[in-house]
Amino acid sequence: MPKFNGLITSKLPAAGTTIFSVMSALATEHKAINLSQGFPDFEVSPDLINLVHEMMKCGHNQYAPMPGVLQLRQIIAQKVKELYSANYNPEDEITITSGGTQALFTAIAALIREGDEVIIFDPAYDSYAPAVKLAGGIPVSLQLKPPHFSIEWNEVKRSIRQRTRMILINTPHNPTGSILTSSDMMMLEKLTKDNDIIILSDEVYEHIIFDGYEHQSVMRFPKLAERSMVVFSFGKTFHTTGWKTGYILAPSALMAEFRKVHQFNVFSVNTPLQYALAEFMRDKNHYAGIGKMYEQKRNLFMQLMKGSKFKPLACSGSYFLIFDYSKISDEPDFEFARRLTIEHGVASIPVSSFYNKPPGKKWLRFCFAKSDETLKAAAERLVAIQDIA
Ligand SMILES: Cc1ncc(COP(=O)(O)O)c(C=O)c1O
Repeated sequence: MPKFNGLITSKLPAAGTTIFSVMSALATEHKAINLSQGFPDFEVSPDLINLVHEMMKCGHNQYAPMPGVLQLRQIIAQKVKELYSANYNPEDEITITSGGTQALFTAIAALIREGDEVIIFDPAYDSYAPAVKLAGGIPVSLQLKPPHFSIEWNEVKRSIRQRTRMILINTPHNPTGSILTSSDMMMLEKLTKDNDIIILSDEVYEHIIFDGYEHQSVMRFPKLAERSMVVFSFGKTFHTTGWKTGYILAPSALMAEFRKVHQFNVFSVNTPLQYALAEFMRDKNHYAGIGKMYEQKRNLFMQLMKGSKFKPLACSGSYFLIFDYSKISDEPDFEFARRLTIEHGVASIPVSSFYNKPPGKKWLRFCFAKSDETLKAAAERLVAIQDIA
């Protein structure tokens, strides 16, 4: 191919390929067990697959309405009313998106201007900061405090300035498995009540929460909800990450801005999937049970890892567990994760990749959204590792 000789000034000079693609490719190359990227290795409900076939066969194959199929928006409105006592109008306060990542990106693109500051809590899902930068905004990274990865609200208070436009939160949290409590939400409400800050709340793991905790959605707090955009993912809830479907809820004024951008970058989302999901969601058991299922997997993986030198950090939600490997090696996490994949056949994600300024910890994130057999096989390899420094 002829070479392009023009000047390319990258808009994201520091960005390479995401760590999830890098580690998954390394896992494939070395035939390692892949506990790196966050996707289930078990099957989707055959009922849901059949519904998609049915919807395709009965002709739902052309563009969906820009905000999404109305039946799906209606069932989402019903769901959040039942779960969080929140009232959202399907007409102008709910939009179906091509996954959670697109919803986050579009929300940021629609509301962040040149020079706006966005508070992000590190470690953070890796799409947040680049999305803010591409919109001309400035990510302001605050660190969650280990071992429970809690938010230091005094620090948030000190960081709020005239230019703070948005605070981005995520509960249950990727990569740490921490959750926000109702007192966190009340602090957030207090700190934002006298300003114009928008909350972007990433709640894609809303149903994956353990030990009797209840998910504290921003939607439960009316004063927060009125300034919040709340993001969800069908991929996480129905084990369909490859379908890239999700949704966002926001009061109508915020949603109007969201849709102005959504219509030009996606326009509308896969039609037969939307009809199928609307039908499937009528049975609440399809999502109500997944917390218990993942709690058993977390417990199994922790139990299997008991004899190992990897030490687990707390995990109250999401399908990720962080393990500290400092008793095994002094290597930085990226090198250790590579070696673990190549030499020991288990892929994970180095937690430093979720930080703007990595704290230099010996932490790896493992995804336990895997069959029991996969978890057993991975744990067997990890337990066998004593010292590879
Ligand atoms: C915290 C968080 N937000 C958003 C997403 C993106 O969800 P989706 O796959 O629906 O784009 C993920 C996926 O890993 C995630 O972990």
